[in-house]
Amino acid sequence: MDDTGKRKKDHIDITARGKAGYHKTAGFEQYDFVHNALPEINFDDITCETRFLNRWFGFPLFISSMTGGHQDAVAVNTVIAAFCERYNLPFGVGSQRAMLEDSSLEATYSVVRKEAPSAFIASNIGGAQLIDGLSSDQIRLLVDSIRADAVIVHLNPLQELRQKSGSRNFSGIREGIRTLAGEVEMPVIVKETGAGLSSGVIEQLIDCGVSAVDVAGSGGTSWGKVENIRNELQEPHFTDEWGIPTVDALLSSKDRVENRCELIASGGIRGSEDIAKSLCMGAVIAATAQPVLQVVREKGYEGLEKMYRRWEEEFRIILCLLGCERPTDLDMIHLRRVNFR
Ligand SMILES: Cc1cc2nc3c(=O)[nH]c(=O)nc-3n(C[C@H](O)[C@H](O)[C@H](O)COP(=O)(O)O)c2cc1C
Repeated sequence: MDDTGKRKKDHIDITARGKAGYHKTAGFEQYDFVHNALPEINFDDITCETRFLNRWFGFPLFISSMTGGHQDAVAVNTVIAAFCERYNLPFGVGSQRAMLEDSSLEATYSVVRKEAPSAFIASNIGGAQLIDGLSSDQIRLLVDSIRADAVIVHLNPLQELRQKSGSRNFSGIREGIRTLAGEVEMPVIVKETGAGLSSGVIEQLIDCGVSAVDVAGSGGTSWGKVENIRNELQEPHFTDEWGIPTVDALLSSKDRVENRCELIASGGIRGSEDIAKSLCMGAVIAATAQPVLQVVREKGYEGLEKMYRRWEEEFRIILCLLGCERPTDLDMIHLRRVNFR
């Protein structure tokens, strides 16, 4: 296995075993729902349908970009794709840089379109690959291989700095994003990978013309920790805990994004309550990575389906107990800050 393949396999093995979570939380426990004893709605009228980037989805959940580019990825991608097709959920493939470097790896990504002919699937490329710009042939290759509905650019300076032979030049990424957003005829989404987007960064991304931003804050998978584990560091390192918690990232950018771009909540989304609180905090849709990978590896398609059905049923109960009929009814008025003693 080449270095890239080994790195990607390590990432799956470390994260799927739940070894690389932040100690600090995403912040959702700091808020409680405001119970409505008089909801005045019929449970059967509740809908989870969600509009995101001009498409309707079955539930406000995006399966975050994870894998591709090596043989182990095929099994995971196949399950996720079949599941997203069945439940009409959007998802992203992992970074497609590997297939730009080695075209024989294309099939590890394109398998998703075979399994999910009508699902919303996003391409994925790192910001560092945009510094010198992608040629129109390269963009076409990424997008056509999976007949993508959107392009995701991931920003991961923390991970790169902790990775042996990771990229150390981050100058020119912003202009690369601006160029890409101007060139491709589909939505461009920019995400972090767990260290969070500040409101200032989100403002710059909106100025570049992106259609959606995914805060991907801290509290879930720590990519500093993943790389520190791979480097066999014996002591804790400050980068294990570096990042903006998801709730802080959401609340600081909520008012900025309104009507200018769509907000995705991710980083430590671990269940129905986190999804509902994210939507109260201004997100249109929530996204999750590690729980999906873990359940797919341990319990396959059936395990993923069971987890999803539980989340969906719980989410409907939350909507009902808040007096809401649909995800867009959720608002900050449905939350109260918990007073810690
Ligand atoms: C095994 C694995 C591989 C990942 N690879 C990518 C990737 O290629 N591109 C990307 O944008 N994000 C990648 N991510 C980051 C996730 O999309 C997500 O932003 C991050 O894990 C935080 O979400 P979580 O706390 O739900 O895991 C990966 C995550 C995991 C667990």
